[in-house]
Parts: sequence; C-alpha cells; structure tokens
Amino acid sequence: MREFTRDEIDYILEKAASLEIYARGERKSDMLAGRILANMFYEPSTRTRISFEVAMKRLGGDVINFSAEASSAVKGENLADTIRVVSSYCDVIALRHPKEGASRMASQFSSVPIINAGDGAGHHPTQTLLDLYTMKKEGKLHDLRIALVGDLKYARTVHSLAYALALYNASIFLVSPPSLRMPDEIKMDLMSAGAKIYETEDIQDVIDDINVLYVVRIQRERFPDPAEYMRVIGSYRITAELLKRNEEVIVMHPLPKTDEVEKAVDSMKQAKFFEQAFYGVPVRMAVLSILLAEWRKATTQSDSSF
Ligand code: NCD
Repeated sequence: MREFTRDEIDYILEKAASLEIYARGERKSDMLAGRILANMFYEPSTRTRISFEVAMKRLGGDVINFSAEASSAVKGENLADTIRVVSSYCDVIALRHPKEGASRMASQFSSVPIINAGDGAGHHPTQTLLDLYTMKKEGKLHDLRIALVGDLKYARTVHSLAYALALYNASIFLVSPPSLRMPDEIKMDLMSAGAKIYETEDIQDVIDDINVLYVVRIQRERFPDPAEYMRVIGSYRITAELLKRNEEVIVMHPLPKTDEVEKAVDSMKQAKFFEQAFYGVPVRMAVLSILLAEWRKATTQSDSSF
C-alpha cells in the first residue's frame, strides 16, 4: 500500500465504479479475453480468491487456481522457482502467502505482475482498495473519522488500510488490547505522513467521535505462542447496544468474523460488511484491467487489440 499515491487510488476507485455493472453481471465484457490469472494461494481464502476469479471471468478472462497442498511446494520447491514457472504460464498472478514480504520477493522472479493478495501479517492492498471503495459509496471518504478495532498487531488488512487512510487526511483511532497494538513502525510512518492518530483500549472512548468502525478478528494463526492467544480471546466485542449510541457510524469488517461482532449487528442498517465483500469484485476488476489492459498497452509487450 505504501507504493500508492492518492491519485492512483482515486483512479482505481473510479475505474471500479465504472465496472460495477459488469461485476453485477448486468452487462457482459470480453475486455480481458485471452488473458489468464493465476490464483496462487498458500493460505486459506474465501472472498479474496473467489472475487479475483469472478472479476477475471466476468471480464472474459480465464483463471488457473493453484493450491499449495496440491503443488510441488509439498515436494520442497521454493517459491522463487514456482513463480518463475507459473509466470511463464499466465499474464498476472494473485499471490497469498504466510510470509511477510513474499509478494515483493515473488515480483523479483516473475515475468508478469504480482498482486499481493495477503503476505502474512504484512499487507493486503486489494482489501484496502475495496474498503476505501465501500467508504466512498457510503459517503464517508471526504470526512473520515475511523476506528480500527481489534488485533492491530497481526491483521494485515488494517496495516494496509492505515497507510491509505493517511493519504485521505482521516482521523484514525487505534483501538486494541495492549498486547495487540498497531506496530510502532507503522505508527511512526503514519505520523511522519502527517496522520492524526489516537490510541485507546476501549471503543466506548471513541464511539461518539467516529463515522466508520472497522473491526478485525484476532488472527489466531499468527500467534507464535497459543498461550498468548488464550489471554486475548474475547477481549473485544462490537454489540448492537454500542451501535445504538451512534446512528451515523457504519460497521465494516474484512471477514471472516468470529465472535468479535455480536450476531444481532448483522441485521442492523449500520452493518456494511456483506456489501463490502461484494465490492471486492469491481475493485479487483479495476486492478486486473489496469494491469492487463492499460499497463500492457503502455509497454512494448502491447497487443494491438487493446
Ligand atoms: C482477511 C485476510 O485474509 O487478511 N480476509 C480477507 O481477505 N477478507 C482478514 C482475516 O483473515 O481476518
């Protein structure tokens, strides 16, 4: 996310808006006909993998799905070799990997663009783009007062989002148990970008001041010590009662949710997480079409049909 300027993000969001009609299947397109996306997922995924696939297919492209368990990774092949080969079979790769920095490393060995679909506790930039798209649709982006709530230490979605929020002059409230605070390195970057950040342990302190509440689950799989996870389990929860205090606030969540959002919240009008998940399709369409149609056009590898 650190690579993006605000103009570039705005461009992607506008592009996504123009593609929403295709994302909903209301109009057909063959914009990406003949192009192949390789979905390379070394970690579980529902929304990211499927929405990349749907985005590609609804624009007329093809998809190959690679899962680590059924690949030569189990025979001990390293990521660099796999990327070298898979990139010779396709036009773009969406990579999810448990190691931080995996996508950046992969980009050095790939002959096609690599999209980071999540690198360990690092980043998840396409999630951030769809998060911003959701905030824009909800009319919150121009005056954003947002609480990032939960496991801010390990949740990559909030790491990427925080960098983007700094570009939008947002007031950022970091709400987490003490042991799950946003890493210092990210806070320093945000402050040097001029972001207004506030830190607290209790959502009650900020609920009246915000217009977006962005919750993440505790990232159980990232805890090196299960005892540490046991200590924080159930340490925060968004309830219907809390949301009654602020009618204006919308609740977002990258999903999956576990028990950090009370079930009663699902049916409240403030809950936007299911729509948010849908916006993964137009936003990933925008990213794919920029990389495969526009970006290619601007390079020597261009195809005259674009
Ligand atoms: C997130 C992820 O994988 O980081 N999921 C997603 O892509 N929507 C959030 C999570 O797993 O908690």
